[in-house]
Amino acid sequence: MNFPAVRMRRLRRTESIRTLVRGTHLAPSQLIYPLFICPGEGVRKPIGSMPGVFNLSIDEALKEAEECAKLGIGGLLLFGLPAEKDEQATGAWADDGIVQTALREIKKNRQLDGLVQIADACLCEYTSHGHCGIVARDGDHYNIENDSSLELLAKTAASLAKAGADIVAPSDMMDGRVAAMREAMDAAGKQDISIMSYASKFASAFYGPFREAADSAPQFGDRRSYQMDGANRREAMREIELDLAEGADMLLMKPAMPYLDIVREARERFDLPMGAYQVSGEYSMLHAAFERGWLEPQRAMMESLLGIRRAGADFIVTYFAKDAAKVLG
Ligand code: PBG
Repeated sequence: MNFPAVRMRRLRRTESIRTLVRGTHLAPSQLIYPLFICPGEGVRKPIGSMPGVFNLSIDEALKEAEECAKLGIGGLLLFGLPAEKDEQATGAWADDGIVQTALREIKKNRQLDGLVQIADACLCEYTSHGHCGIVARDGDHYNIENDSSLELLAKTAASLAKAGADIVAPSDMMDGRVAAMREAMDAAGKQDISIMSYASKFASAFYGPFREAADSAPQFGDRRSYQMDGANRREAMREIELDLAEGADMLLMKPAMPYLDIVREARERFDLPMGAYQVSGEYSMLHAAFERGWLEPQRAMMESLLGIRRAGADFIVTYFAKDAAKVLG
């Protein structure tokens, strides 16, 4: 059957019909809001390249978390800016680390029970050189050591789980980290805490603004020896298979918009819950266009999120979480 018997526009005629036949839905519970927690009190330091995003001391982060809970947002993703950095990333795994301390405070506040607390597990915010693992130097050459980094990552995961994280999310891209973290978390009695692996994480220019927010830019070199080459779709599938075999409970795909084909393929191949991270650069470029009046803010924001859901993500980590939750009501 064809035109004129078929007229696709019949189902687009009114808003109520369009609502009835809509195939993809967004809800505040599917959104996760990242927070950057820093030392001090009453600190709310704006991030220049990310309008509306701040470095927050724990007291301010608690206020932000309460607002998220009221808006029905699904969860928080916590990042930390430690008071001091060193070669061993001590701040990442110390029991009194900034994120561990924040988690304990958050867990005391019953109003926040509805928010899933996800702790990003990586070393780059805590190392003096800004790399996600231990650096071995040999003259002008350097290497990000895989296996020695695993020990620190495993300690980090166990200490975040003990502090109250509901989900630990490794974002470092070292080989074998999921298994190492699972073992350390189980040994700490945290066998019921899940791992959401950033299994498919590409070396991306779109992380630029985050490195200002988290003060985590590498001081030399780049992350291309551990994060994936953006050209490689099949390699992303292998990464996911390996993380599943090591015991990952959920997946986080990243970045989102430039990699929606990867999100779609992962959705078709794997049955575990999967999120996608609309990263800092995706947020910043939209805001830059909003500031110039080049894009309609609300519509462009919602369309960018809907596209990620339609590609197959169950939930989205996004700096727009509060703004989008307000639109969704
Ligand atoms: C830590 C980490 C990064 C992001 C999430 N976890 C930065 C990086 O890998 O350089 C990026 C998030 C964003 O850009 O919003 N490794």
